[in-house]
Amino acid sequence: MRGNLNEIGFLLILIRLSYQMTEQNSSDYYTAAVVEFAPAYYWHDAVLTLRKNTNAYIEYIEKASKQGADIIVFPEDGLTSIHLPDKSQMNSWTTVIPSAVDEYIPCTGTDVNVSETLRRLSCAARENRIYVVVNIAEKRLANHTDARPSNETWHYHNTNVVFDRTGKIIARYRKVNLYMEAEFDKIEIPEIVTFDTDFGVRFGTFICFDILFSVPPLSLTRIEGVSNIVYTTAWFSETPFLTAIQTQFGWSFAENVNLLVAGYHQPAIGSSGSGIYLGRNGIANVTMADYPKLLISRVPKTIKSRRAEVKQKSMNKEKKNQETAKNIARHETLCDKSIKKEVTPEWIKLLRDNITSFESILFNNDSMTETVCHHNFCCDFKADVETITNSSSIYYRAIVYNGVRLYGTQVEAGVRVCGLIQCLNESIHSCGFVSRSDTIFSALSVTARFNDYTKMLIMPSVLDASLIPFGQWSYVEHVRGNEMNLTMVLDEPINNLITFGIYARDFEKDKWN
Ligand SMILES: *[C@@H]1O[C@H](CO)[C@@H](O)[C@H](O)[C@H]1NC(C)=O
Ligand SMILES: *[C@@H]1O[C@H](CO)[C@@H](O)[C@H](O)[C@H]1NC(C)=O
Ligand SMILES: *[C@@H]1O[C@H](CO)[C@@H](O)[C@H](O)[C@H]1NC(C)=O
Ligand SMILES: *[C@@H]1O[C@H](CO)[C@@H](O)[C@H](O)[C@H]1NC(C)=O
Ligand SMILES: *[C@@H]1O[C@H](CO)[C@@H](O)[C@H](O)[C@H]1NC(C)=O
Ligand SMILES: *[C@@H]1O[C@H](CO)[C@@H](O)[C@H](O)[C@H]1NC(C)=O
Ligand SMILES: *[C@@H]1O[C@H](CO)[C@@H](O)[C@H](O)[C@H]1NC(C)=O
Ligand SMILES: *[C@@H]1O[C@H](CO)[C@@H](O)[C@H](O)[C@H]1NC(C)=O
Ligand SMILES: *[C@@H]1O[C@H](CO)[C@@H](O)[C@H](O)[C@H]1NC(C)=O
Ligand SMILES: *[C@@H]1O[C@H](CO)[C@@H](O)[C@H](O)[C@H]1NC(C)=O
Repeated sequence: MRGNLNEIGFLLILIRLSYQMTEQNSSDYYTAAVVEFAPAYYWHDAVLTLRKNTNAYIEYIEKASKQGADIIVFPEDGLTSIHLPDKSQMNSWTTVIPSAVDEYIPCTGTDVNVSETLRRLSCAARENRIYVVVNIAEKRLANHTDARPSNETWHYHNTNVVFDRTGKIIARYRKVNLYMEAEFDKIEIPEIVTFDTDFGVRFGTFICFDILFSVPPLSLTRIEGVSNIVYTTAWFSETPFLTAIQTQFGWSFAENVNLLVAGYHQPAIGSSGSGIYLGRNGIANVTMADYPKLLISRVPKTIKSRRAEVKQKSMNKEKKNQETAKNIARHETLCDKSIKKEVTPEWIKLLRDNITSFESILFNNDSMTETVCHHNFCCDFKADVETITNSSSIYYRAIVYNGVRLYGTQVEAGVRVCGLIQCLNESIHSCGFVSRSDTIFSALSVTARFNDYTKMLIMPSVLDASLIPFGQWSYVEHVRGNEMNLTMVLDEPINNLITFGIYARDFEKDKWN
């Protein structure tokens, strides 16, 4: 009897210890999973569509949990697909989502307006003891505080929901920057949403098109000081600057924060690309062409935050008054080189930026040293070509632009762009395609000069024919006051270059129609 009791006592202690181990945040890493997902869609059948995709999500949740993931992220529109009906038909596709302050657990709760999908996902998070981030169409009872006078009972939102390890809703974020999504309602007052985890990491979250705007992404990184982000997306890749991985990497690098991205997979319409990004420490894991894909990587919990860096600069400034602060980051980019593969351009539909009104110079020589300006925004280009085995096949152009462009049909957005990009022939109309190229750049540098850089998002924009950013370049910031000269320099010769430059968003010129 006594022996048995002792055995039980020993067991209890063991369980308690292992429980505490998972509760502690002494480890320097957490394990993140993201899912590149192609949802099922049944014509006009919300119940079946949501059920099938929820089934698939639960399988991924189980798989990720078994592999020790602390958190798993699913893409935008992954439960409903992007084939949402107009407002009058939205009810069956949507769910009520209680606020985090309600501390509601759909798995055990009784709210009849919370959907079967949300309940099952909550149970999956609970059973597998893992944080789960999903994006789902939300319905919300309209109330008198809504600025838009309305006879409609429900308002609809494109919403991220986060469940903790007990299945409790701990965050709800409604997309602020909608991209031609007429079925969803605009948000009157944007919410800056964060949540805390038992592994000691605080996350922020936003959705797809949001990434190109100041609110909420830069509110999270620059005001809240968040250095880990979960991001759901159904992106439409656009050459030469805004393909999916290029943009995700560029943003994570720019703000120097960890970024966990789950992307919607349907290359035929231009959607693909997921990854786990470690700010200026490069890329932990990405997928662009492969499907289906569950990516799992360890992520360091602490990353030097943007805020700390800015502080460091101003401290330097105080110390050596008027002296230029210098910040150099060298880039390997990919931790796992096997991820990169050659892809044929036909597998994905690519949008193309209209660069015909950009200032540009054709690079048709073995070397170039030029300064190109557009509306007082100037960039210096230096390039040397090592060998051109087939000089007639591919051309390059140095381009600079400072102005507004249209995203979709509703937003005129301020951009400042400069870079060397690939073209098929001498014509500017032939730029922005993706081709293999034998041209080897032995040296290449692009310097952009910004006057009020603190008000902008400034991203490195790097791409080769695999549609994944290449490494082996350095990023040098010279800062004085609000002025920054930013140089990107190639460290090693490279071929198959598609884009090498800088893509900045100048929010003050934005206009929503
Ligand atoms: C559920 O929805 C109905 C309308 O369909 C509404 O009258 C009711 O108040 C809602 N209940 C909750 C708890 O939101
Ligand atoms: C009305 O809806 C908004 C947006 O969800 C919410 O913030 C507010 O608390 C609601 N007001 C009332 C009275 O329910
Ligand atoms: C709301 O009003 C508009 C125009 O007055 C009308 O077309 C629409 O059917 C109404 N919606 C509901 C749900 O009553
Ligand atoms: C765990 O995280 C909390 C808050 O993030 C922090 O205050 C604490 O020092 C951390 N503990 C360890 C052992 O890292
Ligand atoms: C990337 O994710 C896969 C799982 O799909 C995993 O096997 C691999 O180890 C990950 N790579 C890195 C570098 O973390
Ligand atoms: C590209 O932009 C130019 C100048 O803004 C405009 O005239 C032209 O119509 C645009 N082309 C396309 C295909 O949109
Ligand atoms: C090519 O570059 C060389 C060296 O910079 C220069 O002397 C020459 O004029 C350039 N040729 C053309 C056609 O631009
Ligand atoms: C050079 O390029 C042309 C056009 O792309 C191609 O047809 C030809 O095979 C290439 N030649 C070599 C030697 O690669
Ligand atoms: C340049 O390439 C474009 C795109 O392939 C093509 O439409 C155009 O005819 C070409 N122009 C010349 C001069 O070869
Ligand atoms: C940026 O470059 C310009 C031109 O070379 C120079 O005049 C200016 O002082 C530089 N600014 C900084 C902050 O390094």
